[in-house]
Amino acid sequence: MKKITVIGAGNVGATCANVMAQKELASEIVILDIKEGVSEGKALDMMQTSALLGFDSRVIGVTSDYSKTANSDVVVITSGIPRKPGMTREDLIGINAGIVKDVAQNILKYSPNAILVIISNPMDTMTYLALKSTGLPKNRVIGMGGILDSSRFKCYLSQALNVPASDVQGVVIGGHGDTTMIPLARFATYNGIPVSSLLDGETVNKVVADTMVGGATLTKFLGTSAWYAPGAAGAALVEAIIRDEKKVFPCCVALDGEYGQSDICMGVPVVIGENGWEKIVDYKLNAEEQAAFNKSADAVRSMNGVLKEMNVL
Ligand code: APR
Repeated sequence: MKKITVIGAGNVGATCANVMAQKELASEIVILDIKEGVSEGKALDMMQTSALLGFDSRVIGVTSDYSKTANSDVVVITSGIPRKPGMTREDLIGINAGIVKDVAQNILKYSPNAILVIISNPMDTMTYLALKSTGLPKNRVIGMGGILDSSRFKCYLSQALNVPASDVQGVVIGGHGDTTMIPLARFATYNGIPVSSLLDGETVNKVVADTMVGGATLTKFLGTSAWYAPGAAGAALVEAIIRDEKKVFPCCVALDGEYGQSDICMGVPVVIGENGWEKIVDYKLNAEEQAAFNKSADAVRSMNGVLKEMNVL
């Protein structure tokens, strides 16, 4: 009898809830938004697909009523504003920081044992904020970005190789920003065969570059940021927690010396299970990769500094 809450009934939150309902990840999925009626409407719409699609999860929508979220096992935070064309994820910090801090505190009043999944951007800084402002054990605060970036990496690799994306392995670590993420081309494989032996260097570089601006490309097309892959990536993370899968996903977590960094939340491969993130997997970066990771950390750290300037932390 699991319960999941999604905060934010916008594009990403609603998509995530919809995927989770179809996968029957919980007996009850609550969607909460501050916009009157939006959660209720979207939840009811989803419930009206249950007979067609054959799922038994109950989806409930509420407007700002946190009591209905009580005793959630996992809470996914998508509330905030998305980026518009020309904006970076970092441009969102001013508005989203206040929202994420407030939401995290409200959630814990009713679900003190919940694991928090952070999707709101700038995701690395929002994860750091959620961790620091709540004082939760570090394993219970997880940022989703790396799963999405890795899925985009695998998608572009599969197109370059002309093979199914599910036959491709690829990991993106570092920050979840256009210039801070690090697609680890050296570890990318097609069923164990290094992609560097299947694609020329120029093609691999293009795949890496396309991955890094994967979100911005969609924002240009859509006029707002994407939702199908972000929603599905959030659901994949929740699934690994709810089903105690012990799967390895690149997620944004608190580093305490791992990958050479401390007092920061950044994307690294972690084992995900019922306790949240359980272990960091060491990919043993080479000097070039570690230098890129350190540079990414500098950018994330300076963004985290804005939280102090804004007095939210
Ligand atoms: N509490 C609950 N919901 C809120 C709050 C709040 N304090 N503030 C805003 N919201 C809701 C909005 O009412 C809206 O319905 O969050 C929802 C956000 O939905 P969209 O505007 O559609 O944004 P979306 O595309 O879903 O992106 C949400 O995820 O990927 C990131 O960068 C993206 O930060 C953005 C977030």
